[in-house]
Amino acid sequence: MKIHNSKSSLESTLLPFKKKKNSIGFVPTMGALHKGHLSLVKKALKENDCVVVSVFINPTQFDNPADLEKYPRTLENDLILLNSISEKIIVFSPVASELYSQNISSKRYAFSGIEQEMEGKYRAGHFDGVGTVLNLLFKVVTPSKAYFGEKDFQQLQIVKELVKIERLPVNIIGCPIVREKNGLAMSSRNKRLSKEEFEKAALIYSVLKKVKEKFHNLSFENLNQLVEDEFKKSDFYTLEYFEIANSSTLKTDVVKLKNIKYRAFIACFIGGVRLIDNMALN
Ligand code: PAJ
Repeated sequence: MKIHNSKSSLESTLLPFKKKKNSIGFVPTMGALHKGHLSLVKKALKENDCVVVSVFINPTQFDNPADLEKYPRTLENDLILLNSISEKIIVFSPVASELYSQNISSKRYAFSGIEQEMEGKYRAGHFDGVGTVLNLLFKVVTPSKAYFGEKDFQQLQIVKELVKIERLPVNIIGCPIVREKNGLAMSSRNKRLSKEEFEKAALIYSVLKKVKEKFHNLSFENLNQLVEDEFKKSDFYTLEYFEIANSSTLKTDVVKLKNIKYRAFIACFIGGVRLIDNMALN
C-alpha cells in the first residue's frame, strides 16, 4: 500500500490512472478508522479503478481547540485496517502546511442556507472548514466519485452544494450509516466513551426508532416533546438539539407537508463526548 505525505508524490502516482482515463474513487477521512469508514472504502473499491483514502485531521473545521486536541490519532492502526481490505489503496496523509500552504484558515461559503441549520448553529465555522479542506483535497485527488456517510447527513448535503459552487467534476455518493450492535452509530468519538457511557449511548438510536414508529400518528410538536422527555429521564445525557427536518433543505416545518421526505436529527453529550445521529422517517 502506498502512503503519500506530499501533494506532488500523490499527483505523480495518480498521473498514469488519469492518462488512461481510469476512474478515481475518493474517501476523505480524519482517521481513527472504523467499520463505518471501511464501508465507504469497500464501496469505492467496487466502483472505481483506483481508490484514494485521505487521513487528515482538519484543524479549520474544529470550533473547539480541546476537541481538536482530543481527536484520536491512530494512523498506524488505520493503515493496517486499510491494508487488510486492499493493498491497492492509495493513502494521502499530509500535514496541515502541505495541504493549506502558508494560510491555514477557512474560506467563507454560503451553501444555500443549509450551513445555518443544526450543526451550523452549534459549531461556528465548522462547515466553512469542511468546505475549504474538501475543496483543497478534491483539487489534488481529482476524483471521479467521492464517498460520504449519511452519519453526517448535513455534511453530505453541504458537499453536494460545495461541488456546485466550486464547479468540481465529481459525483458525490451517499452511503448508509453503519452501527454498533447496540445501535449506536459508529464514530471515531465513540473511542472516548467509557463502557457504561457506550452502553447508555444506545438511547440515541432507540429514541430515533421510536420517533420513526410514531411519525405518522404524532405531530411534530408531540414528537419533539417525546424526545425531550426521554432525555430528561437521566442526568447522563445532555440533549443539544433534536429536529425533524426536510431532508433536502434541512429546514423544519410547522406541520407535515405532503411529498416531503423528513429526517430526524439529534446531537447530544454523553460524558463530555458530543455524538450526532439521524434517521429517515418516511
Ligand atoms: P470523519 O469523521 O473521519 O468521517 C469520514 C467519512 O466517514 C464521512 O463521510 C462520514 O460521514 C463517514 N462515516 C463516519 N461514521 C460513519 C458511520 N457510522 N457509517 C457510515 N459512514 C460513516 O467527516 C469527516 O471525517 C470530515 O468532516 C471530512 C469529510 C474528512 C473533512 O475533513
